[in-house]
Amino acid sequence: MTKKTFVANWKMQLSFHDALDIFKNNIERLDTLSRLPRTELVICPTFTELYSAALLTSDTRIHIGAQNVSSFAQGAYTGQVCATSLAEIGCTYCIVGHSESREFLHETNDDIAKKCTQLFYQGITPIICIGESQETHQQKKTLAYLEQQLEPIFQAIDQTDAKQEYVIAYEPVWAIGSGNIPAIEELETIFVHLYTICKTYPHTFKLLYGGSVHPENAHKLLTIKHINGLLIGGASLHVDSLEALIRNA
Ligand code: PGA
Repeated sequence: MTKKTFVANWKMQLSFHDALDIFKNNIERLDTLSRLPRTELVICPTFTELYSAALLTSDTRIHIGAQNVSSFAQGAYTGQVCATSLAEIGCTYCIVGHSESREFLHETNDDIAKKCTQLFYQGITPIICIGESQETHQQKKTLAYLEQQLEPIFQAIDQTDAKQEYVIAYEPVWAIGSGNIPAIEELETIFVHLYTICKTYPHTFKLLYGGSVHPENAHKLLTIKHINGLLIGGASLHVDSLEALIRNA
């Protein structure tokens, strides 16, 4: 049976000390969660915490993930962080294409595809976020929109070794931080569609849902066919709610 993957996206919600204190003060609890049967736990703090977080969790099964990466390998790109450095400090996952990066950093689908290629070269699993706006959702154009977001990414995936793994996180923009999630029937249709597309490639993949995931809805979401895990923002910032969410799931 496939493992359920829980990705904690801490965004820029915590300072350096606050984030590291969560690891230091709760390392045994987090370690226990990461060792639950058929469970995989990925924690994504900001860049400044990654190295210390990887060291603090080195004896656990917790995976450390970054929240973004440069689309370039190396060079004169002030302010960016390359995939090589992420791999060197122990990151095994990296979120790319989060709607907040698409919005505030103006990332395009082509940029995100290039980021995936950089991560693939370093053996880091990309967590590729896709999702439609409220308007696209209301116009019932979600599936076509998701296909358009994925097109350049699949071209990048197609050019990599089939041993390479990737994760796709469907996060409707209107669901993030809003307390609203799509109807179950709608999610069923979307995930069958995503699964069918991914299946045409020989690579290993996982499909996650993200957007207002809480301890109360995690179980229901994970009963939907082809949802193999959850991307969690707000509810991952406190170990109590993260633990409740993983144990309820
Ligand atoms: P949320 O955020 O769980 O707070 O809605 C999810 C995300 O943006 O990854």
